[in-house]
Amino acid sequence: MTAKQNKVVVRGLEGIVAAETSISYVDGVNGNLYYQGYNIHDFAEKTTFAEVVQLLWTGELPNKNTTINFQSEIVSDMRLPGQVVEMLRLTPPSSHPMAVLRTAISMLSAIDPDANNISLKSNQRKAKRLLAQIPTIIADLHRIRNNAPLISPDPNFNISTNFLYMLRGTPPTKLEQKAMDRLMILHADHGLNASTFTARVITSTLGDMHSAICGAIGALKGPLHGGANQRVMEMLLDIGNLKAVKEYVAGMLENKQRIMGFGHRVYRVEDPRAKHLRVFSEKLCEGTDQQHFFEISHRIENIVKKEKGIFPNVDFYSATVQHALGIPPEYFTTIFAASRAAGWIAHIMEQYADNRLIRPTSKYLGKLGRKFTPFKNRE
Ligand SMILES: CC(C)(COP(=O)(O)OP(=O)(O)OC[C@H]1O[C@@H](n2cnc3c(N)ncnc32)[C@H](O)[C@@H]1OP(=O)(O)O)[C@@H](O)C(=O)NCCC(=O)NCCS
Repeated sequence: MTAKQNKVVVRGLEGIVAAETSISYVDGVNGNLYYQGYNIHDFAEKTTFAEVVQLLWTGELPNKNTTINFQSEIVSDMRLPGQVVEMLRLTPPSSHPMAVLRTAISMLSAIDPDANNISLKSNQRKAKRLLAQIPTIIADLHRIRNNAPLISPDPNFNISTNFLYMLRGTPPTKLEQKAMDRLMILHADHGLNASTFTARVITSTLGDMHSAICGAIGALKGPLHGGANQRVMEMLLDIGNLKAVKEYVAGMLENKQRIMGFGHRVYRVEDPRAKHLRVFSEKLCEGTDQQHFFEISHRIENIVKKEKGIFPNVDFYSATVQHALGIPPEYFTTIFAASRAAGWIAHIMEQYADNRLIRPTSKYLGKLGRKFTPFKNRE
């Protein structure tokens, strides 16, 4: 006997509307991304990550004073509790930074006085602490693994500059500061992507914010989502020089392998974030020993567009931007997480504000009414 069902399964939930939101809108047909109604191209020049976070969290662009206060609150929350630093020291060097980040967030929840309180005030306090602590976890882990002393955040630097400063130990140049801040702005939110959906599902059970962020990090880690940026850099390093590109890409396409950093569930044209990251990739690599990585990327882009008709997504040029900023490839996805935490938190708050348990159903393909055989009678 089988179950009688008239259910239609939409694989990968493509096109299914599972939530209402006013945080961001991905216009896949025209290749536009809006944060609270503003086109991300408007943030290309003078906006800072701190402004974008406040926009995502409150719905409005902040004024100068609000931004200064918000930024200094975040920077003063950047230091990690000693227990978390100790935990980072205990992780085996072979463990992936995304796995360590996920574990560190769990550890933070164990010592956060608001951990299990899901009231609005408590969630607002946790939101700021989490946004501040994620970049420090990444920077401290990198320095611990390189036997380098830990660096305290500098109150004169903004969030993204502090991250690079704590990671590398020296203040970044103006171009590097701008590139890092744009990178974080462009990764801040993106509709109901897999990790944001995960965060909303966990929130819908009235679970706590740390759990929702841990779940989101788990979803982001996969190579079909945020984990793609690390794979892009590994591919570029493997290709090594411009002359090898054509044969390498042809081989991948022939073997039906996916080219990381290309294709998208929603965009049918170029991902608007790729446009800005391409510019920063070129600027940062120009005239340095990284120049060939930009040139290799550009050539891959042209071949894949021509052969497959698919375009680079956010992860393609973010790889060379991050590499040029001195970030090791295995840390790339953690930077995505540090930026997307802004969006995850906005969605978590939106879900709490108008919650109903997210609990879809499935089409059962198994058997029914099987005859049970007691243990002693089974051969
Ligand atoms: C992002 C992604 C998972 C979207 O997947 P999706 O919406 O389920 O699309 P599908 O897997 O159904 O792909 C549709 C077609 O495009 C092809 N395709 C999609 N992305 C491709 C890629 N990166 N390289 C080669 N072919 C790709 C698929 O093979 C498929 O072709 P087919 O119909 O001939 O079998 C997919 O594009 C991908 O795997 N990209 C690489 C990983 C990546 O960069 N992820 C970051 C996303 S921001």
